[in-house]
Amino acid sequence: MSTLWSGRFDQAPDAAAFEWGSSFSFDRRLFEDDVTGSIAWARALAGAGVLTADESASIQRVLAAILEQGRTNPAFVDGADEDVHSFVERLLVAELGDTGKRLHTGRSRNEQVSLDLRLYLRRRIPVLQQAVAAIVSALTRQARSAGDALMPSYTHFRPAQPVLVAHFIMAHAAPLRRDFVRLEQARQEAGALTLGSGAVAGTSYSVDVESIARELGFDRIVANSIDASSDRDFAATFLYAVSLTMVHLSRLAEDLIILCGDEHRFFEFSDALSTGSSMMPQKKNPDPLELVRGKTGRAIGDLMALLTTMKGIPSGYNKDLQEDKHVVFDAEDTLAGCTAVVKSVIDGLSLNRARAAAAASGLLLATDVADYLVGKGVPFRTSHEIVGALVRKLIVEQREFGALSLDEWRAASDRFEADVVERVTPAASVAAKRTPQSTAPGAVQQAIAESEAWYASVAGGVGR
Ligand code: ARG
Repeated sequence: MSTLWSGRFDQAPDAAAFEWGSSFSFDRRLFEDDVTGSIAWARALAGAGVLTADESASIQRVLAAILEQGRTNPAFVDGADEDVHSFVERLLVAELGDTGKRLHTGRSRNEQVSLDLRLYLRRRIPVLQQAVAAIVSALTRQARSAGDALMPSYTHFRPAQPVLVAHFIMAHAAPLRRDFVRLEQARQEAGALTLGSGAVAGTSYSVDVESIARELGFDRIVANSIDASSDRDFAATFLYAVSLTMVHLSRLAEDLIILCGDEHRFFEFSDALSTGSSMMPQKKNPDPLELVRGKTGRAIGDLMALLTTMKGIPSGYNKDLQEDKHVVFDAEDTLAGCTAVVKSVIDGLSLNRARAAAAASGLLLATDVADYLVGKGVPFRTSHEIVGALVRKLIVEQREFGALSLDEWRAASDRFEADVVERVTPAASVAAKRTPQSTAPGAVQQAIAESEAWYASVAGGVGR
């Protein structure tokens, strides 16, 4: 196998070391982007007078045919080549001879590989965004169908205050909306053109980088050719966006694993997305969500791996950077798989209204009792103390607020009146909330409607 650099050496490469250092087995995923970038470069070389119009046209025609062949038959993108760039160039030269050999004028694989990865992320990130948006939509549907169902909310994983089930569900849509934006920002960051940077110092041919950038859908040129050859910030930003999305999916998974568990059973997984035990016949296990939780470590590991690779390299391209692709592809695949299964789990989730509502009643109404006294003019610190003492008594007697007689209420404070009974219920508790981000039924309705409108506005937005 001849390489793109064999002229410099009088020995053939050590076969095992060459094979070990080759990236074609995994960077073949950049095939489409490599060809796209090369077509743009061929056009720019004609503009710079390096290629004649005819030469540029033949190169572009052959590259387009190579692209078509690779798209229709992925097995075609294969060979003993060092990397995808060598592969494409080998095919081009096989077809066009000397004309093909002119394409790499003024260009380096250092800027090329960065360009390819940028193009790749530019077209793949929207697919991930759609997958994230589809989960938001599935959650929003579940929130709407939960209606006025109630459940406890938790702090320190102890029952805190009653909330609408819909509010709890929308609490998992909100972080995913931020992830959608974060992924968009990663896509933006990738949108700088590296061509024109050469291997490190720039290029001596007057290529019109502005028009290459426009042709490739980029909105700017990198600021500095040395920086450009080793900059993988955009990949790290992508991995951070993926990691945080995975963190959010993991927390959603964790909530559902607990709340579908036998001790809670507020929700139930569909049988189709549960697994059984080989030994214990009663088991219904949430394996898919456990895997989502587990794979989060993998995505975070991908981010750590890239940051660690980046931290020690001297300026300019270094081969360490070849590791970027493993982690980017792995994180992408991890998130793509997890988003698909999480959406299915959400779609198949059913709500056990009675159990969730039962858990939303009891001593977690204590804040509402304290607020009742505030309404009667008692300072909050004082009312907190009065209700705290009442709670202590009820715990000892194993009773709840609803079991108190008016005399007992009044023994705690003479500000209590008969209306305390209807004011201290889970439904009254949520209805009493006043802010737009609260669990007040009107606020939750608005959040659901806003989320539906958002999804309608972003759905299907992949073909950019
Ligand atoms: N396979 C290499 C990578 O992924 C391509 C760039 C090679 N450049 C070089 N000077 N060897 O980073």
